[in-house]
Amino acid sequence: MRELDIPDQELSALADETLNLAKNYWSRLDERAAYPATSGEETARLFSRAWAETGRGRGILADFQQIADHSRPSGARFFGYVVGSGEPVGALGEWLAAVLNQNVTSWRSAPAATTIERTVVGWLADAVGCPGFIGSLCGGGSAANLMALTMAREAKLPANETGASPCMMYASEQAHMSIPKAIALLGIGRQNLRLIPVDEGFRMRTDALKAAIAEDHRAGRTPIAIVATLGTVATGAIDPLREIADVARMEALWLHVDGAYGALAALAVPDQFQGLASADSLSLDAHKWLYQPIDCGCLLHRDAAIAREAFSNSGDYVRILNQNPEEAFAFFEESMELSRRFRALKLWMSLQYHGRRTFREAIARDLRHAQMLAEAIAAQPELELLAPVTLSVVCFRHRTKDNEAILRRLVARGRVYLSNATLKGQFALRACFVNHRTTAEDVRTIVDEVIAAATELNR
Ligand SMILES: Cc1ncc(COP(=O)(O)O)c(C=O)c1O
Repeated sequence: MRELDIPDQELSALADETLNLAKNYWSRLDERAAYPATSGEETARLFSRAWAETGRGRGILADFQQIADHSRPSGARFFGYVVGSGEPVGALGEWLAAVLNQNVTSWRSAPAATTIERTVVGWLADAVGCPGFIGSLCGGGSAANLMALTMAREAKLPANETGASPCMMYASEQAHMSIPKAIALLGIGRQNLRLIPVDEGFRMRTDALKAAIAEDHRAGRTPIAIVATLGTVATGAIDPLREIADVARMEALWLHVDGAYGALAALAVPDQFQGLASADSLSLDAHKWLYQPIDCGCLLHRDAAIAREAFSNSGDYVRILNQNPEEAFAFFEESMELSRRFRALKLWMSLQYHGRRTFREAIARDLRHAQMLAEAIAAQPELELLAPVTLSVVCFRHRTKDNEAILRRLVARGRVYLSNATLKGQFALRACFVNHRTTAEDVRTIVDEVIAAATELNR
């Protein structure tokens, strides 16, 4: 036998035991705390061992329990950040994708996987009201935003050959940190991102946007792109897309929509997302509001030629000689990566297993859960809402206690997990619902737990 070969019987036992671990994990998820009681010292002690000279064989599976016990579970009562719940069919798709080990660089390297990815990208485009948009899957919203702004620059002020010239981009002050990060990575410079003030609903103020662009023109600067956020990370606010699209059109600027968190809610509440198709590019995260295992971001756009301007850099060894358009297609010509995982298989399996209606209803339930929590907060005199609830984020605070201390107590109690945001200088407790496992009972627990944590602070 060769070095890495495993006898059939042993491989079969290993695969069966691995699958059993997954099944047991899923079936007992409810018994786990919302967040593991662990520490950096403990995880370092448990998981920093040296790579042994001699293999441990199937003994490695014994570690899984310990790893799971020190991991954040994708359970019903985790409401922090924007973390999807890792739908099991998608997880099984991940496993099968790894078994196939496709390198989805191009049709030539991965025929079925390439066509499947192009198909699911089309499904996502349809789901958000952008039929005809094309694109690719990527690690997440940050990668999608970086690719989008790279395309924006190449379309408006080409830099790939001669290097970057100074230019300006615009996003609201509630934009996700991946926007300034992308602008820094592109060498545009974070100071050349104008953070536009927001209204009382945390939406970009278009009057301020217009004023900022006019000021930059007067100063001889070169505006090239606007980023509208549909579902801001802190409060779920939806920037006024139609007005922003008008500004982009008048000024001939690239319009990128960061819909990493929010845009897939268009499946359930399309009216809130009217005008998405006016964007030049759009980021989505199926690992957020389509409940897929991480990573599963997507960049949609309308123009393959601009994508190629931005990303095509073919070395001779990957040059494609085929003339058939499907067979000649290469993701590496139109996106950032060369070696790429078969991310589309989990979506292909999960979206078809459940069907479109199931996802629409799951998203609608998340939206209802957010409204339920908002009502429970309004009914509790000790608590106060800090932002309108537009999508599935609820930001609130205890009126009299130290909210940061409440959050620490709450997490330590382990029954629910919330994260935080800073809104108009105030520390906010923040719950986000993008979780197909959450029930109405779980939502009711949030207010009870916050009050219990606040009460404990007095002791
Ligand atoms: C609005 C928005 N944009 C971008 C991102 C980044 O996405 P990812 O974490 O998948 O890179 C997030 C993450 O929460 C987000 O909410």
